[in-house]
Amino acid sequence: MDNQVNEAIRSEIERRRTFAIISHPDAGKTTLTEKLLLYGGAIVEAGMVKGKKNMRHAVSDWMEIEKQRGISVTSSVMQFNYEGYCINILDTPGHQDFSEDTYRTLMAADSAVMVIDGSKGVEAQTRKLFKVCRMRGIPIFTFINKMDREALDSFDLMSDIEGELGIETCPINWPIGSGKNFQGVYDRLHKKLIKFSYDGDTIAGKHEVASVEMELTDPALGELIGEEALEKLLEETELLDGAGHPLDMDMVSHGELSPVFFGSALTNFGVEPFLEEFLHMTTSPLPRQAKEGTVDPLTDPFSGFVFKIQANMNRAHRDRVAFLRICSGKFEKGMEVYHSKEGKKIRISQPTQLMAQDRSIVDEAYAGDIISIFDPGIFSIGDTICDSRKIVHFQGIPTFAPEHFARVRQVDTLKRKQFIKGTSEIAEEGAIQIFQDPGKSMEEVIVGVVGTLQFDVLLYRLKAEYGIEVRMENLPYEYIRWIRALPEGMSEANDLTLSSDTRIVQDIHGNLLLLFSSEWNIDWALNHNKGLTLAEFSENE
Ligand code: G4P
Repeated sequence: MDNQVNEAIRSEIERRRTFAIISHPDAGKTTLTEKLLLYGGAIVEAGMVKGKKNMRHAVSDWMEIEKQRGISVTSSVMQFNYEGYCINILDTPGHQDFSEDTYRTLMAADSAVMVIDGSKGVEAQTRKLFKVCRMRGIPIFTFINKMDREALDSFDLMSDIEGELGIETCPINWPIGSGKNFQGVYDRLHKKLIKFSYDGDTIAGKHEVASVEMELTDPALGELIGEEALEKLLEETELLDGAGHPLDMDMVSHGELSPVFFGSALTNFGVEPFLEEFLHMTTSPLPRQAKEGTVDPLTDPFSGFVFKIQANMNRAHRDRVAFLRICSGKFEKGMEVYHSKEGKKIRISQPTQLMAQDRSIVDEAYAGDIISIFDPGIFSIGDTICDSRKIVHFQGIPTFAPEHFARVRQVDTLKRKQFIKGTSEIAEEGAIQIFQDPGKSMEEVIVGVVGTLQFDVLLYRLKAEYGIEVRMENLPYEYIRWIRALPEGMSEANDLTLSSDTRIVQDIHGNLLLLFSSEWNIDWALNHNKGLTLAEFSENE
């Protein structure tokens, strides 16, 4: 009996694929997500994901600021089934609501799909998100989108990805033209021509894709795409076969080689072949490192960690919701679990799962799934929750470098206590980071955020929840680095040789950091202090 139960849990976990889609705004993340959901039958018509901002706005009352601005500060998870797989897509908020949560979401994913606009190549936000994926060593798949528009040369796109991101590429398919001359792709793996036949109809699911199995040497290929295009295709694929990277699945699984797919999400071209190949190549839930050793998703009992906290869902109660990534075993509603940091048993009675904008109660969930649980104020980001039969502590979630800084001080000096309480509590939730001049008391703080919207959230919450008015002054810094090691023989950060506009601060844990106004200043500091070691992420706590 027990074996049967274990077998059932194992097969549920093995069919799970949990990934995030990363991109620069406008590259087509929403469009691709929507097409993937359509294949999974999770949505019935196009436009549902696109409209999510409005729909969320209508159904959620999470934060006043959301309503005021009509945007979403929250991220969600979309779960659907496709050909036996259970797929969890983690939404990584972009645009104005880009925040540290966007990075943290990547800590919960087992792989990432990077969407790149074929006419633009690698852009700023992709670069930032990619760094986090790289740090984790998870598989990264590339979807080069908008091939129905004039795109950059395909080889230039490959060298852009390799040069900018430092990852090898292996094109699984290769485009035949782009824009008006886009004829489709040649699938190198299955030796298949997938012909693009755009008829002006971009409605999802209606676009027909003709695919023909055909060796490149088949003379009929020329009839289908024209002799000129065939000549170019032959030349290019020969170059790829000779000088390109072979598909090495070991490198893919370590995030050292990215399988690349060309397509056009809007016209639904190349999406399904991508999905099928991706599901084949990507990983089921990965083992995670805990202090006690590796936690195996299949054989260990229930465990998970909190990667995000959504504060203030209901202002009257100051309640919060914690997002939990399940790392091993099975979770059941009403289950008694162990909160590792507090060393206490707790019962989780109302777990919910988020399908786009709707929240529904779940009875069971498995490794790979994301659930959200009510937080009476006991959870912090990075906390482990597990079965008390096997207590583990997962490595914490690193703190990511903010890019916008402001000096914040309270207007009414008599409210010092509330000011400290408010800024510290909001920082503990992970919405902002606070820094101080070393050795100084908290009369004022330097607030660092990943996305500027968080400044508004801070001002709003300090006023609404703590009754404090603050004055905020933007600071010209853009980069912050944790000091990992001082030059040999140096005992104080004050002894560092720094440019006049570089500043030493400390975080709430007492770690010392440097604030820089440009990358040039970072290089300057490193060149003038041999042995100084700086880091873009704080160490896991
Ligand atoms: P994002 O989530 O990454 O920010 O991008 P999103 O999917 O919203 O796409 C950004 C714009 O690019 C949208 O146009 C979308 O229709 C378009 N787009 C996405 N994929 C493709 C593609 O394969 N080919 C072409 N030609 N366009 C594509 P928009 O005009 O900004 O929005 P909308 O008014 O069409 O909704």
